[in-house]
Amino acid sequence: MYSKEIQSDMNNIDINTIPPIQEPERQYYFIAKCREWVYEQEQKSGRKLTACINTFGCQMNARDSEKLVGILNQIGYLETDKESADLVLYNTCTVRENANLKVYGRLGYLQTLKKKNPHMIIGLCGCMMQEETVVEKVKKSYGFVDIIFGTHNIFKLAELIYDRIQNDRMTIDIWDDTEMIVEDLPIERKYPFKSGVNIMFGCNNFCSYCIVPYVRGRERSRKPEEILKEIERLTAEGVVEIMLLGQNVNSYGKNLDKPITFAALLTMIEKIDGLKRIRFMTSHPKDLSDELIEVMKHSKKICKQLHLPVQSGSSRILNIMNRCYDKEHYLELVDKVRTAVPDISLTTDIMVGFPGETEEDFLETLDVVKKVKYDSVFTFIYSKRTGTPASIMENQVEKAIVKDRFERLLKEIHTISKQMSSRDVGKTMEVLVEEANEHNNDLLTGRLSNNILVHFKGGRDLIGQLIDVKLTESKGFYYIGELA
Ligand code: SAH
Ligand code: SF4
Ligand code: F3S
Repeated sequence: MYSKEIQSDMNNIDINTIPPIQEPERQYYFIAKCREWVYEQEQKSGRKLTACINTFGCQMNARDSEKLVGILNQIGYLETDKESADLVLYNTCTVRENANLKVYGRLGYLQTLKKKNPHMIIGLCGCMMQEETVVEKVKKSYGFVDIIFGTHNIFKLAELIYDRIQNDRMTIDIWDDTEMIVEDLPIERKYPFKSGVNIMFGCNNFCSYCIVPYVRGRERSRKPEEILKEIERLTAEGVVEIMLLGQNVNSYGKNLDKPITFAALLTMIEKIDGLKRIRFMTSHPKDLSDELIEVMKHSKKICKQLHLPVQSGSSRILNIMNRCYDKEHYLELVDKVRTAVPDISLTTDIMVGFPGETEEDFLETLDVVKKVKYDSVFTFIYSKRTGTPASIMENQVEKAIVKDRFERLLKEIHTISKQMSSRDVGKTMEVLVEEANEHNNDLLTGRLSNNILVHFKGGRDLIGQLIDVKLTESKGFYYIGELA
């Protein structure tokens, strides 16, 4: 997905002049420069150069990686999932400490690969790189890394690669924050029929445990006309389902020159011909408006699924977390949503072991789980992130207690999700067929509007289509079905 006009001009870019200042023209210039270099390397080695991107973290990072792959493809790299590639890029996450540790763990392995292929380019980007201590550590202990950049300048990948191949030193380019949103660069989508679409970047909420606002910067919304243009282009290419992405989609549009609400944006998107399904994440409970619930109630395209992270059931803890809602408000919201859209599937994020969490606080969380009856829950053990207010709170909870609470929480969730996800057995429902089943080639995997997976017999020609399937059996977290 990229501007046809600019792309058709690719061959006319004069790479012997100085680079343009304007974006995205400047990046197309560096893509052309790198392309020339890659071509020379191919002539020397007699084979195509390959590139591998390993993505950690959330859907934001997954979408960013599609943009990075788009640029690498234009440069002339062949995409591969093998880390023995000529260029390996880790798009990192730092939301919890184990996301961080995984990256350090794998870097040692990359070093052994680079010893075998000294021309290999190793790049690190994404959220972890926005932390100064991380960059210092990489410079000191992982000197074989070639390129480091952060979350604000991923559009510059070609320029950074070009800098690295011109100079024999580590290329580092980290921006503290940005106002800039560069549109119209190439993107390579993982699925032909569904796509993520960024509607906003960054986060202004500063939940006291969370590092995201520090590594993703201040909240910036894309203009509605840019979003609509992108979705229209996607549907023209065959996309039927989109996932609107933002850390807090409910505050979309507040800081635009001409402010608009997320609900109003959804209403405009709904009108796009060819688009069949709309999903969005993440919704912050503090900003979920009645207007949005109303739009969801009447929409034919918005999927019957809402991810509404609660984090904790204790109003006392929610206050210290700076979530700006309490247990009662959250439960009221759930009631309102269920009244408006009775068959909606609700999912959430829950954290245990936040500093100062007592047994009573934890029981409040269990109470919310029992009352709301989520379809599924993403559970996390609180992880201390340097620089966040919670990291210097003195009353960190003992590990053994956290582990015990975590296990009790999982047990409760498991029982409830099993009941919830079998409620539609016997019904015929529409699925978007996504892929052939990994373990059994005769089976296809499709996704219901409420995001639950269904496995059923069918030919691969159905992949990418919306079809009716009868749900014959529940397997706890997924269904077995048959073509209706
Ligand atoms: N913007 C989204 C969440 C993005 S991070 C929202 O506000 O809901 C995804 C999830 O990671 C969060 O919902 C939270 O449950 C979890 N998380 C964030 N920081 C964490 C930390 N320090 N320790 C453990 N889990 C954390
Ligand atoms: Fe983190 Fe809170 Fe922002 Fe979500 S809303 S990204 S949890 S600070
Ligand atoms: Fe991780 Fe960054 Fe997403 S820290 S969760 S990849 S915004």
